[in-house]
Amino acid sequence: MQGHLFALGALAGAVLAGSAAASPPSAAPTPPMGWNSWNHFAAKVDDATIRAQADAMVSSGMRDAGYRYINIDDTWEGERDKAGVIHANSKFPDMKALADYVHSKGLKLGIYSSPGPKTCEGFPGSEGHEEQDAKTYAEWGVDYLKYDLCSLGDRMRAAGGLDKAHEIELAAYRRMDAALRATGLPIVYSLCQYGVAAVWRWGGSVGGNLWRTTGDITDKYPRMIQIGFGQAGLSKYAKSGNWNDPDMLEVGNGGMNGAEYRTHMSLWAILAAPLLAGNDLTKMSADTLAILTNREVIAIDQDPLGRQGDRVQAEGPLEVWAKPLKGGAHAVGLFNTADFPNWIEIDYAKLGVKGAAATRDIWAAKDLGKLTRYRVQVPGHSVVLLRVG
Ligand code: GLA
Repeated sequence: MQGHLFALGALAGAVLAGSAAASPPSAAPTPPMGWNSWNHFAAKVDDATIRAQADAMVSSGMRDAGYRYINIDDTWEGERDKAGVIHANSKFPDMKALADYVHSKGLKLGIYSSPGPKTCEGFPGSEGHEEQDAKTYAEWGVDYLKYDLCSLGDRMRAAGGLDKAHEIELAAYRRMDAALRATGLPIVYSLCQYGVAAVWRWGGSVGGNLWRTTGDITDKYPRMIQIGFGQAGLSKYAKSGNWNDPDMLEVGNGGMNGAEYRTHMSLWAILAAPLLAGNDLTKMSADTLAILTNREVIAIDQDPLGRQGDRVQAEGPLEVWAKPLKGGAHAVGLFNTADFPNWIEIDYAKLGVKGAAATRDIWAAKDLGKLTRYRVQVPGHSVVLLRVG
């Protein structure tokens, strides 16, 4: 009898494996975590920078905290040869060797291009070379592509209307999706087009694993908050494999204080945002590292339920956002954007929680007991991040 059961189990396993092979698992089951060169290095990125960041991602403990991708942003591109094959410029003498190096550290490599003729910094884009470029990336060992609208925007503006512009954009993003799929490799596909045409409604349908919902972040508190709170109402468009991307992290770049960076990290975790560090990993303060590697905050972002959080209440500068977690718990962020302290209160009934729920202050690493509501003084430009239930 037991033998039969076992055989049945094996059969079910084989059928499941068969169906998994038919539809390959998503390259981004949880929001991608890693690092990107743009926010700190911009055009100064080169081979040595990438190797040093990969080394630091390992030695700092960030890899062990879940960070994986080392992403080269714009300015790596060189010329196309006579056959149209793209080559890296002199800052990146051997892309394949660089990918091998990054992989040898247990990490993955990301790259950047545009669906237009030129990237945002004026380097060659992929228009008309999508298949060639995807093949080149695959040969190098690239695991992630950020595909940035840039000069395709000029064509869209000249198209004569929003709908025509949208068709141009859809076709361009689909072309690269097909080219990436044709490589047979699980390359993460990151759309970067600043939220044009409400991309959250259609980003998944053109193959995007993530899509930027906003213009560029800067290392300033008002811009970070504007972007973060500007995500209200987008939670229903995110799911495992398809994420809203409110842009990369600025934690550790020096333009905000610790409370402001904890606000940034808390809000991005509640938003199930990709966590792409944007600082110099070779020169991190203990506080920066503690913010980026807080395991409980990362667990909120990466929660297997795969739900994005959203706004629960807003009262002038005081906002409460919550994210449902696997097993019925919630992550709750109490944000004070005033520059002086304020009391904020959340009644758990507003989260759909019935009765008292175990409550933990995550940044303070302190259990607060079983509660039905929580009232706390939040300093200016700061956050209290709770796990409830
Ligand atoms: C755009 C993107 C940025 C960065 C730059 C590079 O502005 O939004 O994230 O990739 O281009 O040129």
